[in-house]
Amino acid sequence: MRLVVLAGGLTAVVAVAVVAGAFSASEVCAAEKTSFAEEVFPIFKARCTSCHQPGGEGFEKSGLDLSTYEGVMKGTKFGKMVIPGDPESSNLMLLIDWRASPALRMPHGKKKLSICDRDAIRAWIREGARNN
Ligand code: HEC
Repeated sequence: MRLVVLAGGLTAVVAVAVVAGAFSASEVCAAEKTSFAEEVFPIFKARCTSCHQPGGEGFEKSGLDLSTYEGVMKGTKFGKMVIPGDPESSNLMLLIDWRASPALRMPHGKKKLSICDRDAIRAWIREGARNN
């Protein structure tokens, strides 16, 4: 503990608290309020819009356009996929967590989203799914 020697008692207490690792996974992934534009949309853009925009396979089959905020909130031709404030009832979460049937795992036929990516989307929905 060089810090203790260098900077004295208070720093030592802080350093111990940090080293003891009081961080939960969600704090590490998303410490502040989740931003649609900066955190959520880039995930959709990188992993979903190749199929989920007009002309894409996912859009043609389900009507879900993930290339705009309005499209995300509108959902599919069968109904909403995002329920603001309620990630557990949001079908979009169900599909990206691979809790639905294997045929409906998203992104379709591709690698599962990372826990951090899924937690960012989950937190954004819980915080009200705003266009922020
Ligand atoms: C390789 C193409 C492809 C990619 C990439 C893809 N999807 Fe899909 N998605 C589809 C297809 C095809 C369907 C229609 C499935 C069906 O109804 O048979 C679909 C349907 C959906 C549905 C609606 C399911 C329903 O009940 O109608 C949601 C929600 C969805 N995708 C979310 C996502 C999300 C979120 C991503 C990115 C993480 C993603 N998809 C990436 C092809 C894709």
